[in-house]
Amino acid sequence: MSLHAADLHGSLHSPVSESMNFLNEVAQRYPEAVSLAAGRPYEGFFDLAAVHRYLDTFHDHLLAVHDGDLAQANRTLLQYGRTKGIIHDLIAGHLRVDEAVTVDPESIVVTVGCQEALYLTLRALRQGERDAVMAVVPSYVGVHGAASLADLRLLPVQDAPEGIDLDDLAAVVRDAKAAGIRPRALYLIPDFANPSGTSLSRRTRQAVLEAAREHDFLVLEDNPYGMFGPESDDRTPTLKALDRHGRVVYLGSFAKTGLPGARVGYAVADQTVLAADGSSTLLADELAKVKSMLTVNTSPIAQAVIGGKLLENGLSLHAANRRERRIYQENLAHLLDGLAKRFPPGSRPEVSWNVPAGGFFLLLTVPFTADDRLLEHSARRHKVLWTPVHHFYADSRPRNGIRLSFSHLRPDEIDTGLDRLAALVHEQTSEGDRR
Ligand SMILES: Cc1ncc(COP(=O)(O)O)c(C=O)c1O
Repeated sequence: MSLHAADLHGSLHSPVSESMNFLNEVAQRYPEAVSLAAGRPYEGFFDLAAVHRYLDTFHDHLLAVHDGDLAQANRTLLQYGRTKGIIHDLIAGHLRVDEAVTVDPESIVVTVGCQEALYLTLRALRQGERDAVMAVVPSYVGVHGAASLADLRLLPVQDAPEGIDLDDLAAVVRDAKAAGIRPRALYLIPDFANPSGTSLSRRTRQAVLEAAREHDFLVLEDNPYGMFGPESDDRTPTLKALDRHGRVVYLGSFAKTGLPGARVGYAVADQTVLAADGSSTLLADELAKVKSMLTVNTSPIAQAVIGGKLLENGLSLHAANRRERRIYQENLAHLLDGLAKRFPPGSRPEVSWNVPAGGFFLLLTVPFTADDRLLEHSARRHKVLWTPVHHFYADSRPRNGIRLSFSHLRPDEIDTGLDRLAALVHEQTSEGDRR
């Protein structure tokens, strides 16, 4: 039998799902290409022995919690488990130690990566067709995909050098309400955003929280890269830390700070949900209802790996990621240096880029359209991969931007990638030698 694509869910033929397939497929077809595209964590410190040790550390912790009851410790680790997870108290401790955020462990849902946390939240907020989520664009492909899976309208809010255009935010809310649409939440990545690398200042964060209060929406704060700034103590507080009115749902990922293969993330959803009979629950409990029908619970074995890593590092992932932070910062400096050498100020062709203080990514602007066709050509002829920025807008409108990722490469690979990218740029800007 055959099925018609048109009879399947609309998200399956949205530009977003096509995006992910296309990008993965190009990378697989050109394995010899240097990838300035993949936003993957650095692999140099992957350590299988540590994974075994983390499991043991967490098992010892369970034994201590359960007064030496081995059967109970084994059950917690190996049996089906609590929907909201088993490392919620350790995550609450980590948020206290690393982010100065105090939350009730009961308000935490441990999820299969941050992506599930995002989906659960969007699914729960979608009561009807009038509901919408706002997102600063360009934005992480996963928010477009999760909104589309949840049949939730996504309203783009303009980006700006300070991370968000607050006037546009107000205009989007006003226009939506005038059209009978309810903007339920604003999704944003306030630290070293994907794809732009931009961070919001404290003042902008306060302004976003004020706007949320004034216009009555939630803020979905996605923070996978916050640990990867300069090695100093004066990190800008998260929106969750600044929030005095319960507006922020905090979405956490251990993919970059813990271990990507563990696939563990979480949502902190401490908002109160009132029922018609006057009773109340936490939003986390409502998200858990969605989760119970989706992934049932997050693998306790995977949670134990992350739990063990937290325990071995005094609950501080900031401390646990000192080496990684150094690598990412060095790679960022190397990439910025390499760009400045290959495209010095005033020279032609005109290529510009932003200068993030940390994270995994930056945005490059080139004097030609950088679309999927050019990426394919770049992979084939020049053996270098990058990500066309249009993928982060969830439309196929051609744009001049490309995202460069530097997280998983060695400095010599960055040099090779940049040499090849420069060759592509020169080819595209010299007459008569176009694709
Ligand atoms: C901004 C952002 N949020 C969420 C995720 C997904 O996180 P996880 O791997 O924990 O699902 C990513 C992954 O690249 C990301 O860049």
